Amino acid sequence: MTKPDTKKSEPSNLDRLDGQSMDITAQRLAAIKALLPEAFDLDGNLVRDKLLEALKPASYEASDDIPAFGLAWPGKQLAFAAAGVPTTATLRPSPEQSVDFDTTQNLLIEGDNLEVLKTLRRSYQGKVKMIYIDPPYNTGKDFVYPDNYGEGLDTYLQRTEQKDDDGFWKSTNSETSGRKHANWLSMMAPRLTLARNLLRDDGVIFVSIGDDEEANLRLLCDEVFGPENFCNTIAVEMSTTSGPKTVNAQQGTIVKNIEFVHIYRKSSAFNESVRTPLLDGIDAYDTHYTNWMNDDGTLDTLSDVLMCDVAIRSDVEKNNLAGSRGFSIKSMDKLLSVSEAAREFVTDNLKRIARVDRPPVSAQGASPDVGKWERFSADHRDYLLTTLESGTLQSLIPLHANYRMSDDYKPRFGRTVIRGDLWKGFHQDMGNVAKEGDMVFANGKKPVRLIKQFSKWATLGDGDILLDFFAGSGTSGHATMAQNAEDGGQRRYICVQLPEPLDEPVTLDDGIVCETIFDLTRERLKRAGSKIKEEAGLNAEKLDTGLRVFKLDSSNFTAWNSDPTTSETDLLERLEQLNDQTVAGRSEMDILWEILLKMGLPLDLQLERFELEGASFIGVADRTKVLSTETAIPTAALEALLDQDIPPSELVVLDGAFENDNARANIATLYKERKDDDGKPVCNLKVV
Ligand SMILES: C[S@@+](CC[C@H](N)C(=O)[O-])C[C@H]1O[C@@H](n2cnc3c(N)ncnc32)[C@H](O)[C@@H]1O
Repeated sequence: MTKPDTKKSEPSNLDRLDGQSMDITAQRLAAIKALLPEAFDLDGNLVRDKLLEALKPASYEASDDIPAFGLAWPGKQLAFAAAGVPTTATLRPSPEQSVDFDTTQNLLIEGDNLEVLKTLRRSYQGKVKMIYIDPPYNTGKDFVYPDNYGEGLDTYLQRTEQKDDDGFWKSTNSETSGRKHANWLSMMAPRLTLARNLLRDDGVIFVSIGDDEEANLRLLCDEVFGPENFCNTIAVEMSTTSGPKTVNAQQGTIVKNIEFVHIYRKSSAFNESVRTPLLDGIDAYDTHYTNWMNDDGTLDTLSDVLMCDVAIRSDVEKNNLAGSRGFSIKSMDKLLSVSEAAREFVTDNLKRIARVDRPPVSAQGASPDVGKWERFSADHRDYLLTTLESGTLQSLIPLHANYRMSDDYKPRFGRTVIRGDLWKGFHQDMGNVAKEGDMVFANGKKPVRLIKQFSKWATLGDGDILLDFFAGSGTSGHATMAQNAEDGGQRRYICVQLPEPLDEPVTLDDGIVCETIFDLTRERLKRAGSKIKEEAGLNAEKLDTGLRVFKLDSSNFTAWNSDPTTSETDLLERLEQLNDQTVAGRSEMDILWEILLKMGLPLDLQLERFELEGASFIGVADRTKVLSTETAIPTAALEALLDQDIPPSELVVLDGAFENDNARANIATLYKERKDDDGKPVCNLKVV
């Protein structure tokens, strides 16, 4: 039997919508070619030696036998190459599992993140402001997805169907496999590569990690993002040495209290965005703040001024806080802890209480009187200056400057310090983490506050996207909604999670049974969303707590299955399928969203259905792009669409939707020939 001709008749003047995810390798090769044409042979192939030659600095004389610095592991090349292999996979909408499907801009996607990231590429390349991921730490107990790059999506689909077989889903990446670190790095490399591509130029990625892979991850990130884009590694205090840890600590073991987060920016454009400092509360009063600035420009000693307040003086006396020389500022902490009046006094007078510091260079020449203060402007800034008795010029720094709301577990208004790379106090959040989102998740659940602080620091703003493709219990989505509820923001999230089976199904209080981690993610995001909305007060109205659910699957469009087969029935079945352009059992919604994805449109779009000459169309972005999932469109409708005052710039229809081959060719010509003032077609017509 000869293989059937699967090509549809197609006039050469009609473009076909590319059915695959974006081909990264082709894009990269084109970029290299533009820069280094000498690295390619006459057939247009990149030649390794020519490339190395072209990149060799003139001063570099050393030979090839000096190994390059960097991270090496078996399977590395294949792992990076996996990021470039296009996929035909699609994302099928699941409105029944969603909340406010038609209007929400939050997305939850079920599936293996490698394939999902590839399907998102066309729509989200360069669009994501912040990524937070918390991948398996590779402790030997956690699940590491064993990619088989050759099989890609098929492996995933096969395995999700056979989840209980051979304990596959339970398989861990143990030391005994002999490739523990290599397997983990091979899992991470293509995912980080794709993640980088989705980031905006001013975007940033945060990756949580433990001891097992912290060092390897750092080198891998250097390779993917470039060492020049490394921002920080922060140490997060996740526990204290208490409870069961105490015994080990008492025996001399240095117990684990911290986890790490590596932070990389996409490019130096990130530094141009204004970042928000994070503040830790400080209990002790800073006893350098001893000066009191009167309105008339004179200075007093704070302790003297405090004693003029009757209530404060009484608290000082009651608590024996004054020594033989009267009340000293050294006892300020004690005073503040016992005297409500003193606390109020300090908070009400933050702008008058000051310490002295070195004056700015530009203040040279100023000479306020001793015991007086005066304002001084230089470099567009105002300074407060005084002269000490020694004759030295000094700057006065009011207490106001470091009294703010802290970013602590229980935020409070008080003295703060700007946080460095040691993020203390998250052990307190960990004590409560099981209750967050009303969802127990024993698989590395992170505190909502941690993610909120990352996005606060990264200044994730209105309309910005936070992506988490190892979503677990969905903390990132929860944190995004919580932050929006707090400040009325309009941030959006995309969470991706594998339907990894739980050891035991979990029945939630309303009877919903969760069999996979994905079920938990979805339910937490739903519950957290409705609770946040309930409690949001004034911000509730514009708060988006919905979630649009999609599931990774094979394309809705039939393609010739070229797997070898000797079965005639099999072959006839395949031929039968080809007559229908779409896979049996797929809905109009499935097809619609696949077309949108392949048009490179984002998945949070709102769609507008409209009728024209008896055909139904779907418009997006004010009908600048239009598509149709109809299997038969009257020629008159396609003509009418183009004849509108403002026709769409792009129209995508099913290949089989034309009345006949003749109509197809005529419409193709009509669309090609209707040109704008620049001589370009007014509307690009494509078939899928
Ligand atoms: C450490 S947990 C993340 C916990 C999360 N930060 C939280 O607060 O709940 C890592 C998650 O990644 C998921 N995961 C592992 N491999 C994945 C893959 N290839 N695609 C999508 N999710 C994956 C695991 O199922 C697990 O739920």
